[in-house]
Amino acid sequence: MDSAAADRPPLLEVEHVSFRYGPLPVLTDVSLAIREGDFLAIIGPNGSGKTTLLKIILGLLKPESGRILFQGRDIASGGVRPKIGYIPQKATHFDPLFPASVREVVSMAFQASKRGLSRRQGEEAAIRRALEVVGMAEAMDRRIGRLSGGQQQRVFIARAIVDKPRALFLDEPTTGVDAGTQDLFYELLDRLNKREGLTIALITHDIGIVDRHITQVACLNQRLVYHGSHAEFCRSDTLKEMLAGGHHLVSHVH
Ligand SMILES: Nc1ncnc2c1ncn2[C@@H]1O[C@H](COP(=O)(O)OP(=O)(O)OP(=O)(O)O)[C@@H](O)[C@H]1O
Ligand SMILES: [Mg+2]
Repeated sequence: MDSAAADRPPLLEVEHVSFRYGPLPVLTDVSLAIREGDFLAIIGPNGSGKTTLLKIILGLLKPESGRILFQGRDIASGGVRPKIGYIPQKATHFDPLFPASVREVVSMAFQASKRGLSRRQGEEAAIRRALEVVGMAEAMDRRIGRLSGGQQQRVFIARAIVDKPRALFLDEPTTGVDAGTQDLFYELLDRLNKREGLTIALITHDIGIVDRHITQVACLNQRLVYHGSHAEFCRSDTLKEMLAGGHHLVSHVH
């Protein structure tokens, strides 16, 4: 790891995490730290545990053993809710007739909270700002289902960042999106990372598309096969193995 990265405090620490849904292990003894300001790409073959690891970090699944620290505090110890925006794999796109505006979709991030008048005004300002950040403020009153897939994705980002999370997790966000839209999307993430200081973890199958933007790479295959800076990764045996094996990052364990 480069010295600048080592100076930044860890936002999230995954410590010796193991997990299984049934008899077969899905994650075995995975440890890694995500530091403030990282733009981490998580790669690995289908079924290698990437989505599961994200859900464990978010507190949606409990690890069989090991623990997750958010800003140094165990998320299992009550009262610690990791402030992370999340865009799940296959985030549903809206039907053209879905009766909600862009503004309403972004405001869903606040539905769980108590909503006094002054709070609502604060939320309105936050919604506008989040939509400005993703370049969708002008579409605020449009019906969500009438937007293109790429535009809807930007609205999902706005919804994920509107409550000012410390990190944004995205699980294969550009599946089925054309190359030009993908580039614009990753430039947006780059801006969020570099200008707004948002820590980003992105699961992807195509590291070639994001490699201009990322700072760290984690390669998962039930165990953590590799974790380090992007620069080190480019010189690593893991990358050589990936290239030798075509698109299969590392052979699957099951
Ligand atoms: N809810 C579940 N119940 C049982 N098994 C599951 C469940 N979710 C995932 N699995 C299994 O756990 C393993 C890891 O799944 P996971 O979704 O974490 O992989 P992934 O790396 O995200 O794969 P992909 O690249 O295809 O999205 C797979 O073998 C999968 O079949
Ligand atoms: Mg997945």
